[in-house]
This record gives sequence, structure tokens and C-alpha cells, in this order.
Amino acid sequence: MRVIAIDGPAGSGKSTVARAVAQRLHLRYLDTGAMYRAVAFAVLRAGGDPSDPDLAARTAREIELDVGLDVVMVDGMDVTSDIREPDVNQAVSTVAANADVRRELVARQRRWAQTQGGGVLEGRDIGTVVFPDAELKIYLTADPAERARRRAAEAGDLNYEAVAADIARRDAIDTTRSADPLSEAEDATVVDTTGLTIEEVVDRIAGLLTTTSRSEGPV
Ligand code: DC
Repeated sequence: MRVIAIDGPAGSGKSTVARAVAQRLHLRYLDTGAMYRAVAFAVLRAGGDPSDPDLAARTAREIELDVGLDVVMVDGMDVTSDIREPDVNQAVSTVAANADVRRELVARQRRWAQTQGGGVLEGRDIGTVVFPDAELKIYLTADPAERARRRAAEAGDLNYEAVAADIARRDAIDTTRSADPLSEAEDATVVDTTGLTIEEVVDRIAGLLTTTSRSEGPV
């Protein structure tokens, strides 16, 4: 099973890069952040409190979740844009810090990869927890100002200061939580995307695969 792990903080370029890598390698792609967002959304939609640990854990276990390339469905409902709304941005780090939620979603991510015969997974803990034996582990970074600029442009939100503050707040929660905090796997290759185009980043990752792959040649 061929698994490529792409981790890093918000705005490091993970989604765009992971999609492009998947396309180039003809692998399926999974945005695991969308899964944590979907759980936060489902809790909020039911009028629940995202910091209620039992409620968040039960929601993670019980929702029907379908994270596709372009569409995210929760219980048969298209929530693709809802999960990017400010209320979900606000709640998601708390939900993602819940160890029971993580256990459930990690199990779903492993099942997904097994069913697909591998894939490119992007998140915060793919190389450290979900697939420690991944064929290639990439840790993407970019300087905080550039990450905030990208997220602000992506959201069509011109309030750069607010976006920068939100990213800093989420980075702090994601890196300091006790359950599977965001960190570089020891054997991950760190790629700083500041000032690089998507194509340059994808080329660099594809180059790493060429040098690390062992038995891909003709027999
Ligand atoms: O990548 P994103 O911004 O959509 O992620 C949303 C949140 O989920 C973010 O706070 C980090 C968390 N997350 C996580 O803890 N583990 C993952 N594998 C993916 C995302």
C-alpha cells in the first residue's frame, strides 16, 4: 500500500500540494482536516457545545462521513462550504484536541487508505500517528505572514489581521494539545514553501520519491 503523508500547519500549502501530488502519482487524496471540521460542524448543527468531550466523541463515532475530492458530506448533507465557516474555524481545534475524537477519526483514515489501496493524506499527525510507516513523509512550512496571506486570499477575507490572529490561535492549540500534537515526524522531509510556486513544491516532492522508491522499476 502506497501512502504519502503530508503534514503541516494551516496555510502551509498542504491542501493544494497534496492534491497535486495525488494527481501526479495517480493516487487518491484525503483531507483529514475536513473530517475534524465535519465533526465540529455536526456538533454545532445539533446545538451542542464543541468543548463537551462526550458529545464530540459520540458525534465522531455516529456521523456518516464522506470526504471526497471536492465534496464533503455529513449524514447525507453537502457541508463542503459550511465546514469552512468562522463558527467551525472557531470550534475545530477544540474538537481536534479530544483524544476520543482522534481515535475514531484515525481509525476511519486507516480504513480509508486500506480500501483505496493507499493514497495521499494531509493533516497534522499523518506521518507521526496515522501512518508512521508511510513511504514518504513531508512536513510543509511557510513563514506565518505568508500563511496568513494565503488563508486571507483563499477566504476572500480582506481582514488580514483577523486571519493572522486566527491562524496563530489554532497553531498554538494544535501544537500544544496533549493528544497527538502537530509536530514533525523524525523522518519527515521539511519543505519550506515560502516563496515557492505549487509546481516547485510538487516537483521537489516527486523528486524525493524518485530517489527513495525502491522496487518501482520494470522487472
Ligand atoms: O487543515 P485544517 O485547517 O482544515 O484542519 C482543521 C483542524 O483540524 C485544525 O485545527 C487541525 C486539526 N487537524 C488535526 O488535528 N489532525 C489532522 N490530521 C487534521 C487536522
